[in-house]
Amino acid sequence: MHKSLISIHDFSKEEILHILDVAKKFEADKYNCQDILRSKVIACIFFEPSTRTRLSFETASNRLGARVIGFSDAGNTSVSKGESLNDTIKMVSNYADLIVMRHPLEGSARYASEVSSVPIINAGDGANQHPTQTLLDLYSIRQTQGKLENLTINMVGDLKYGRTVHSLLQAMSHFNPEFIFTAPEELKMPVEYKVFLKERGIPFTERTELSGNIQDTDILYMTRVQQERFTDPMEYEKVKDVYRLTASMLEGCKSNMKILHPLPRVNEISEDVDTTPYAYYFKQAENGVYVRMAIIAYLLGKTK
Ligand code: CP
Repeated sequence: MHKSLISIHDFSKEEILHILDVAKKFEADKYNCQDILRSKVIACIFFEPSTRTRLSFETASNRLGARVIGFSDAGNTSVSKGESLNDTIKMVSNYADLIVMRHPLEGSARYASEVSSVPIINAGDGANQHPTQTLLDLYSIRQTQGKLENLTINMVGDLKYGRTVHSLLQAMSHFNPEFIFTAPEELKMPVEYKVFLKERGIPFTERTELSGNIQDTDILYMTRVQQERFTDPMEYEKVKDVYRLTASMLEGCKSNMKILHPLPRVNEISEDVDTTPYAYYFKQAENGVYVRMAIIAYLLGKTK
């Protein structure tokens, strides 16, 4: 029976740490991995826009020696003729050894894993989960802090619809974190995630102000307000520019504090932050290649 990665809960703490260790080896030796997946075919099927996730999965597959098939616009596929997700997945799993899928519908990746004959990697399903982003976030946190344990993570912005914060919160629960949730009332962390933390005795505080509230933070995890998840455009207009991090707001923060962002950014991080020693988001996106190499290789039984 093959294993898929749909939710971060599909990986144990040991598996998460294994992925991070393998990714570190791949980062150190990325030009010498061509034999690992030679003759394998990876399908990247994206029903929603993406830059980083799709291209880093394709790069990861190419670095491992696999061939890549797929689409980045379902409008050019038979989905536009009414083909169901069930039929699409059954077909693609006849062609590929592993499927990477992004879809706007929450639960679609889990459904796909139930009808597929090959492993599925969830590359984002609506506002639900984005587990490979979480693994590269964990990798980035460990690379910059030297550890995952006992860190204060300040999550900022759209904590309601931002699937990356939901997955990251769950993964960090293995490592004794403390959370600060900085969000406007309209975009607060959903109750189910707060219950998850309470059940595990993990402390969190909720704030609405960003300015003046960064000094205790080890990781400042900025997020974009997810325009595409709003049903009412007026509601989006009210909150779209609620936070804008500027370089001057970073005075007095911990010397090793790092700013992460899953990207794309819109207005929430000013470009004057990019040249500060705290900005890590572009390197974070690069780390996605090594972590996705590790995930693909692991799911295809090619890591020790
Ligand atoms: N972080 C992330 O998922 O970016 P993309 O939407 O560009 O893939």
